[in-house]
Amino acid sequence: MSPLRWWLAGVAAVIIALGAGCDGALHRMQDRAEKPAMEAPAGAVTLGADDDRAPPVMTRERLERGEDRYDRVCAACHGLLGDGDSVVARAMVGRKPRSLVDAAAVAFADARIARTIDSGYGAMPALADVLPAADRFAVVQFVRALQRREVVVGDLPAARRAEAERWLK
Ligand code: HEC
Repeated sequence: MSPLRWWLAGVAAVIIALGAGCDGALHRMQDRAEKPAMEAPAGAVTLGADDDRAPPVMTRERLERGEDRYDRVCAACHGLLGDGDSVVARAMVGRKPRSLVDAAAVAFADARIARTIDSGYGAMPALADVLPAADRFAVVQFVRALQRREVVVGDLPAARRAEAERWLK
């Protein structure tokens, strides 16, 4: 891991330590019930709570932006591959950062992922201050790319999969 990643892992560990005191389920309910609607910056595309519209068209630039933000903000907890395996996750007690590439996560609507980043979810802190709306969509698109990668690699026979994993890491 680069020094930046270690630093981020440290920050994440502190966030987790601070959050460890609260009851995840209660926190989740309060989050949903009490959080006022986010104010979007002028010109930003917004998704309402039940809006499943796809985010803006994927471009290479946006995907690379999403990868950069994901690596810096999400990977410390959810892992570089999105599989939920990270230094922080291994050290966490209680609810762990879930896999973002399993079948359930593939079925999440874009709006659900964007909202989770925006408002947090249980043990996960709200990251709206770190990721403005445009970056949230970029991250959602990068998560989709990680999911497709998982499908392609996951379809290989076990022996080939190990080989491919080594190359793709
Ligand atoms: C500090 C660690 C941490 C960071 C950073 C973090 N997450 Fe999470 N995330 C979690 C944990 C823990 C959960 C499970 C929370 C629970 O179940 O109570 C979670 C859950 C989720 C979920 C599932 C929400 C649902 O509806 O079930 C999604 C999607 C998600 N995270 C996406 C992201 C993305 C994208 C980023 C980066 C922008 C990110 N997370 C950053 C810890 C983190």
